Amino acid sequence: MCGVFGYIGIRNPLEVCLSGLEKLEYRGYDSSGIGGIFEGQIVLCKKAGKLSALKNSIQLPQISLAIAHTRWATHGKVNDENAHPHLDFTQSIALIHNGIIENYKELKNDLLKEGITFSSDTDTEVIANLIAKYYEGDLVQALNATLSQLKGIFALVVIHKDHPDQIIAAARDCPLSIGYSDQEDESLISSDPNAFEESNYNIVFLKDDEIAKVQKKSIKIYNKNLDIISKKIERLEIDIRPPSKEGFEHYMLKEIFEQPLTIKKALLGRYDEDIFFEELKLSTDVLKKIKNLWILGCGTSSHAGRIASLLVEDWARLPSSVEIASEARYRNPLISEETLIVAISQSGETADTLAALKETKKYHCPNLGICNVKNSTLARETDGVILLKAGPEISVCSTKAFTSQIAVLTLFSLYLARLHNQLSKSQVKTIFEELQEIPKHIETVLNQLPTIQAIAKKYAKFEHFFFMGRGYMLPTAMEAALKLKEISYVNANAYPAGELKHGPIALLHSQFPVVAFCAHKKTRDKIISNLTEVKARGSPVLAIAPSDDSEIKEIADDVIYVPKTRDELAPFSSSVVGQLFAYFIAKERGCDIDQPRNLAKSVTVE
Ligand code: M6R
Repeated sequence: MCGVFGYIGIRNPLEVCLSGLEKLEYRGYDSSGIGGIFEGQIVLCKKAGKLSALKNSIQLPQISLAIAHTRWATHGKVNDENAHPHLDFTQSIALIHNGIIENYKELKNDLLKEGITFSSDTDTEVIANLIAKYYEGDLVQALNATLSQLKGIFALVVIHKDHPDQIIAAARDCPLSIGYSDQEDESLISSDPNAFEESNYNIVFLKDDEIAKVQKKSIKIYNKNLDIISKKIERLEIDIRPPSKEGFEHYMLKEIFEQPLTIKKALLGRYDEDIFFEELKLSTDVLKKIKNLWILGCGTSSHAGRIASLLVEDWARLPSSVEIASEARYRNPLISEETLIVAISQSGETADTLAALKETKKYHCPNLGICNVKNSTLARETDGVILLKAGPEISVCSTKAFTSQIAVLTLFSLYLARLHNQLSKSQVKTIFEELQEIPKHIETVLNQLPTIQAIAKKYAKFEHFFFMGRGYMLPTAMEAALKLKEISYVNANAYPAGELKHGPIALLHSQFPVVAFCAHKKTRDKIISNLTEVKARGSPVLAIAPSDDSEIKEIADDVIYVPKTRDELAPFSSSVVGQLFAYFIAKERGCDIDQPRNLAKSVTVE
């Protein structure tokens, strides 16, 4: 994980790097740091805590270039010492790093035996010292020798005090982009090209241990044999608008309120008498031949995948399985050329999802990415992609991306159903018309904000929750429980409602509330029975139920009503209730809502 950034050029490197780090803070906010070269010496400033801590304390002389880092801790505690950049033992080299060096312990032991001392607990410092060991005047050569020793996935950016005119970068299975300008003498390096301030850069992406020598006026890329190679140069449309809370107290609340609009955007231009996707590069011939789906994702994206799996089964009548990407990559899956891989990721940079996708390539399966960030690795590396068009999601806790994911996955399931002759045009028309009503349903939920806030306040004192649901309400409950855990630090487990009595019900008592998602009509009577079972154990019960269910209030202590809709579309409104419930509990408990502890927006390590 972590964000790396570098700048060499005519502007003030410090200012450019701080601005780059702001846009990379979604990759980690445990600490940050900047390093440069001044009068033949490496100078550094690094600070534990959010970027604001670095900004408040930074004091560096006029440096000729800069490398900058925002950290999500993997090796070593969150403190100033473990913040990047790291120096080698001669203090000639400074290095920033994203990723994990799997064999760092043995490498460190070897270096210790050679008398080299370390001042941090990081794997990064090992790399800096290896480069120093191999350095004989050429930093590219030293880095190349070092790469051959390293196991893992990583992106590295290095400077040397004797080379104030160059920054060296390398990447293995980890995103790293180099941008350079035709107009100005400047070059930039970033984990994510969206962190470049302008959209008129020529951009190259490094991979497979390629090394870049980045200078003000030139960029040279070397392969493993140290031959200079030419790379595809891309021009990317980059959204350079600075993020804004637009008057909301938190990004999360702003993003929750954006959902009526973001869902409309997800649907826009994708139906004209039938479903279509302009940008989808996968041919209908390929999609007609598929016999099953393997859906990959992590966290919220995996919950969207669970909903998609039910939709595909119900409408397209195709079997599918949803796999947590970190597990999928180590499976021995029964997939083939007739399996469609669907990789879901808001950021398109989640390491586990990308790695699982890469694993499936050896089975020659066609693959599809569902993604919000159009320049992301996932969007670039899949055969076809459907973009969410939800706009940047800043809050670590995913909200609008989730509902946009389920919107596009609903459309895609209908699209597959048509290709596999399972639904008629008029059936799809009816469902699409109901889907178009969803933004209004969400507005109805948002209008109940005072009620949801009051109920959340009442439940904010509890330390443990069960969330339960059936059918489409099970992934909805899982997603709502994740929201609560993530931003309120409250223990919330989601279970299929019928499963509670097979063990977990033993935990229930008067201080252990149950939040029941009841909008799945097919199993409505069953969940009522489950509710009476938990009520009998003394648990407070909050039900999220369709507006026409008058009976639920007789059983539940509290009810939040959502507009009624067909089962397949019920996750939308109920999820928004879950988001607001978590938001107000976190607020009541005084948590850092947009940047919860220990987390990052984009998880770029295994
Ligand atoms: O960017 P991705 O969709 O691949 O991210 C996957 C998860 O890390 C993410 O959904 C995470 O679970 C959210 N913070 C949940 O709100």
